[in-house]
Amino acid sequence: MNVVEVAIINVTSYMGMEAARLLSRHPGVKLVSVTGRSEAGKSLASVLPHLSGIGLTIDPAPQVADVVFSALPHKASAEVLLPLVEKGTKVIDLSADFRLKAVEEYQRWYDFSHPAPEMLQKAVYGLPELHRPQLASCSLVANPGCYPTGAILALVPAVKEGLVHPDIIVDSKSGVSGAGRTLSMTAHFAEANENVSAYALGGHRHLPEIVQELEATGSRKLSVTFLPHLVPMTRGILTSCYARLADGKLPDGEKGVAELRQVYRDFYKDEPFVRVADAPPQTKQTLGTNLCLVYPTIDLRTNRLMVISCLDNLVKGGSGQAVQNMNVMLGFPETAGLESLAVYP
Ligand SMILES: NC(=O)c1ccc[n+]([C@@H]2O[C@H](COP(=O)([O-])OP(=O)(O)OC[C@H]3O[C@@H](n4cnc5c(N)ncnc54)[C@H](OP(=O)(O)O)[C@@H]3O)[C@@H](O)[C@H]2O)c1
Repeated sequence: MNVVEVAIINVTSYMGMEAARLLSRHPGVKLVSVTGRSEAGKSLASVLPHLSGIGLTIDPAPQVADVVFSALPHKASAEVLLPLVEKGTKVIDLSADFRLKAVEEYQRWYDFSHPAPEMLQKAVYGLPELHRPQLASCSLVANPGCYPTGAILALVPAVKEGLVHPDIIVDSKSGVSGAGRTLSMTAHFAEANENVSAYALGGHRHLPEIVQELEATGSRKLSVTFLPHLVPMTRGILTSCYARLADGKLPDGEKGVAELRQVYRDFYKDEPFVRVADAPPQTKQTLGTNLCLVYPTIDLRTNRLMVISCLDNLVKGGSGQAVQNMNVMLGFPETAGLESLAVYP
């Protein structure tokens, strides 16, 4: 395997440090530079002792590299990445800055005017299960959000095959690391521990991404309600999706359930990181791994599709997926650096 030089911008974020952890074990990667605004000049080992084996000093700006990962917040990420993209560097953006195709959505959901609308068409939405051929030849990857990864992977086989009515409910529960490392009232131990809360009832920023990708696959307008919840765990997202089954698409009763499962198994049969589970999956089964577990079934009393998915928001929901995208982009084996099993219990 060739070795490429990689830089990580904002290693002090949860996404940045998880990317460093994964890339440090990647056989085709030499990590050459990591940045962090408030910790520049310090050794990575002193700031993040769990990464002490890597041995770099935190830079104020990324040094030249073949591939750059950005774990900056939205808006800041585009500003730093656009000059790199112009220079021809391969870039993987973990922020939302290049995920949406319709430029007006940035004003609406992220409250900023996008600095390079033309790049939105060039960027590839980094969900390999949907966009592998485009990823293999692109230089700017828009790595998906954590909630959208779980929701889209749960729904896309059913939406693509027209198995459901367009009225869909996505109900997600996330661990606290999904909100990042910046301190906030909701993330305080005393607020989050032994507590569960719904938030963003007026519309969460990840909703347009979910709709964009599902509508593109199913070729029709959808009406999606997405409701996220915060639960007292560190990592993980469990997503439950509901939609009424389209008439006459599946046989009644258990035969319909079996056929539905087969549709999902066929859709994901060659995917290294999506597994159709035989029982409702649990977040711990994906802890520390790049796996997304998906369990489709039917509520036979109401004729409703129910799909449960789960993943680790920092791995398949973020940095692991970014490494998977890099592997596809560079022609590395897609599982390189991502082979580990879940940490359990
Ligand atoms: N958390 C997740 O599960 C998840 C999943 C998928 C994608 N993402 C996306 O990945 C990116 C990183 O997320 P995160 O949750 O890992 O972040 P985070 O832990 O909240 O990182 C926040 C850090 O970013 C730095 N920062 C803030 N504004 C900055 C700016 N304008 N310029 C430079 N540095 C700045 C600050 O570092 P200093 O203290 O050095 O100032 C701050 O400590 C975000 O775009 C997020 O939306 C997150």
